[in-house]
Amino acid sequence: MERNKTPAIYQIYPRSFQDSNGSGTGDLPGITRRLSHIADLGVDAIWLSPIYVSPMIDGGYDIVDHRHIDPMFGTLDDFDAMVAKAHDLGLQVYLDQVLNHTSDQCPWFLDAIAGDEGMADRYLWRDPKPDGSPPNNWLSQFGLPAWHWNHKRRQYYYSQFLPQQPSLNLRCPGVQDEIAAQMQGWRNRGVDGFRFDVVTAFLWDEVMKDNPPARPEVQDKVAGENFNPYTYQDHVYDMLPGDGASYAENLRKWAGEDAYLFGENTSGNQSIELAMAFTQPGRLDSVYTTDLPEGRGSPAVVADMVDRSESLHRIAGWLSSHDQPRHSRGDASDLVLALQMAFLPGPWIIYQGEELSLPQPKLAKGDVTDPLDLLYWPDGPGREGARVPVPWTSDPDDQFGFTSGIPWLPMTWDSDGIRRGYDVVLPFYRNIIALRREHDWASAKVIACEANGDILDITILTQGGQRFRGLFSHGAGQPGDCSETEPLFRTQPDGDYGWCGAIWQV
Ligand code: NOJ
Repeated sequence: MERNKTPAIYQIYPRSFQDSNGSGTGDLPGITRRLSHIADLGVDAIWLSPIYVSPMIDGGYDIVDHRHIDPMFGTLDDFDAMVAKAHDLGLQVYLDQVLNHTSDQCPWFLDAIAGDEGMADRYLWRDPKPDGSPPNNWLSQFGLPAWHWNHKRRQYYYSQFLPQQPSLNLRCPGVQDEIAAQMQGWRNRGVDGFRFDVVTAFLWDEVMKDNPPARPEVQDKVAGENFNPYTYQDHVYDMLPGDGASYAENLRKWAGEDAYLFGENTSGNQSIELAMAFTQPGRLDSVYTTDLPEGRGSPAVVADMVDRSESLHRIAGWLSSHDQPRHSRGDASDLVLALQMAFLPGPWIIYQGEELSLPQPKLAKGDVTDPLDLLYWPDGPGREGARVPVPWTSDPDDQFGFTSGIPWLPMTWDSDGIRRGYDVVLPFYRNIIALRREHDWASAKVIACEANGDILDITILTQGGQRFRGLFSHGAGQPGDCSETEPLFRTQPDGDYGWCGAIWQV
């Protein structure tokens, strides 16, 4: 089957979606139960954050075994049932692939520590410098040192995230064979595509020189906050040397021509240009960057993306995820941003609960389990707020329908806000996703795009030859010049134009 290259994708963070057994943690049968909610939204696909065997130090992105489901989420039979129901409902299923690193509990890593040199080659081990210090100045993306001492091997190993996530040597043939086989295994179970974690961090320069200090034009664009020392370096040797983007050709070969493939770009520097490199023919379908969420979808950010990209089809748009604070504010701006996302050509990732305008909850330090949140507490934006479980009802006494047990993170949702989510925001999302589908905006191309202060003015041409113009006011403006004619759709039929969006067929 020809793959849909511009799908609307609903991201599920499985721990926090729906519990089915009172454990307080979401699971696969819970997802199956709620698939009709997603299908009714009108999206094309679901993407599941990792469900593989994991000690959950990094929320499932620390994997022990990519071929099996963690018991907290269920069994392979539960998985098959979920895929079958999704397909019945017309939803494609995309799985996360965390190929950059494993858990330190992975048997490969344990065997490497025990002296198996074949397994050691699957990671990056280096002797210390003569003074005992690490081989170079590389840092982890979370801001910790990237090198960790192992006294049994008397060597350092490299890790771009937590110390419990040793980085894999993706050039190692043994690693490549394993990846190809496990991806094929999931394809055989009916999986339609994959999301590749941190695809821009896969390769490092084997000469392993020190990274130079960040040039001023790079410093504020490197992933992370500037209290994270990772932003102090120009990552020329530890990220993407030489054949970095062409590595995606392997991913395509292993996944198959008909799989939808998208990747995460964690490098803010040259983000759009990198996305274009990774999505050349024979590589990934799209890459997503942090530009949109960091700018909360601002007109300037959208215009800049249009300018710098060859096509928006190759950049997946999104505003919230399990890693970023939720963008919703519970006001008109949420609807305008949703309409803007539905109108922009290209793939669109909707994060679970965004269709209810869930706000970013505040968590007490004692409730937080994410090591990254705790590392910078309380100064970092924090990731676990966005992972608070989804409310399926507005009833706090019933744990909002999420679990019959105690939710793994406290759910302090405001019941009135949840009711508004279900009564107002959810039908709005259904409407605009139906419009996106009906008029085929996703596969259109942008023919004009301007950011005028707070107003985004964008015109697209669909494959069927129809033109649509969207005006999105982000607070201060009024889409005046189109107001004489009745739009095809607008966020508010009349009244206050602080935030508003409207679309005309022109
Ligand atoms: C990106 C994932 O989205 C994030 O949750 C994780 O911590 C890092 N990659 C490392 O896998």
